[in-house]
Amino acid sequence: MWDFPLFPEAASSVADRVDALYIVMTVFFGFISLLIAVLLVWFAIKYHRSKRTDHTPLHGKTWKLEIMFIAVPLLIALVIFFWSTRVFFDIQRAPPDTMDIYVIGKQWMWQMQHPGGQREINTLHVPVNQPVRLVMTSQDVIHSYFIPAFRVKQDVLPGRFTTMWFTATKPGRYHLFCAEYCGADHARMIGQIIVMEERDYQAWLSPGSGVQAAGAAVPRGGRSMAQGGEQLFIELGCNACHVPGDATRAPRLEGLFGREVRLANNQFAVADEHYIRESILFPNARLVAGYPQPSLMPAFADRINEEQLNELIEYIKSLTPETEGAAQP
Ligand code: CUA
Repeated sequence: MWDFPLFPEAASSVADRVDALYIVMTVFFGFISLLIAVLLVWFAIKYHRSKRTDHTPLHGKTWKLEIMFIAVPLLIALVIFFWSTRVFFDIQRAPPDTMDIYVIGKQWMWQMQHPGGQREINTLHVPVNQPVRLVMTSQDVIHSYFIPAFRVKQDVLPGRFTTMWFTATKPGRYHLFCAEYCGADHARMIGQIIVMEERDYQAWLSPGSGVQAAGAAVPRGGRSMAQGGEQLFIELGCNACHVPGDATRAPRLEGLFGREVRLANNQFAVADEHYIRESILFPNARLVAGYPQPSLMPAFADRINEEQLNELIEYIKSLTPETEGAAQP
């Protein structure tokens, strides 16, 4: 669409829709405000008591006018409501085929973890035209992940995940800001989003191909997040109870991600990142039905950090029913 001079560049799939709504609302309500201001002054002069105008109130003759005064603004408000709700939901709800990247905010930097194991500080490389979902948490206080060119902003909170998604539509470099005052160096908690063509992105992902730019991605310890998670899973002794294909001592983890699980209190929960995070940190919070209460699993709340937690979640996400090679019981 247009690039309005006062706006940042529009570089995501929702940017033009946000701008359109914003401009239409600003222009429309600007016009209404102006109209009211002009009429106010004009009527004040026209009906001034020094003028010989008819000042008799219009008793009982105004019902048509009154209905119009109610119906027209209501209609306009409803149009804006449905329009903006539609845009809001599309910004909130990620499509199913997203590439997930983990973000950890801390005073005062952004740390990004790619599923392949690549890590970045204050810089995020993403491919163009690919829906990307950010799974974000904070190590200390509330931060806010803000990419003006994509028209997306989401608070990043300690102790839980918040998510945000976007599809970048133009290769380039875009500002990343922290948009929540978070202490002395809040203003320096900035970075950039680097949107690359798919080919360049693949080259960036695989070091050694000789194409990647300086400071490019190197998976820590040469392993993916899921591999790091698997190693942790063994080190922490999780595999003693969570045995592949065996649900005797603990719930099976294969194919768990995204599935609905029945809880001990007969409610249901979807095993998404939020649920898995909570169940690792506080196993009793939403215990699965059919296992002893309280849970035999120790709480890991003070035993692992956010990065390790993310790796464990990626590992659990990677466990499909096929990984165990056994039939469903
Ligand atoms: Cu982090 Cu402001």
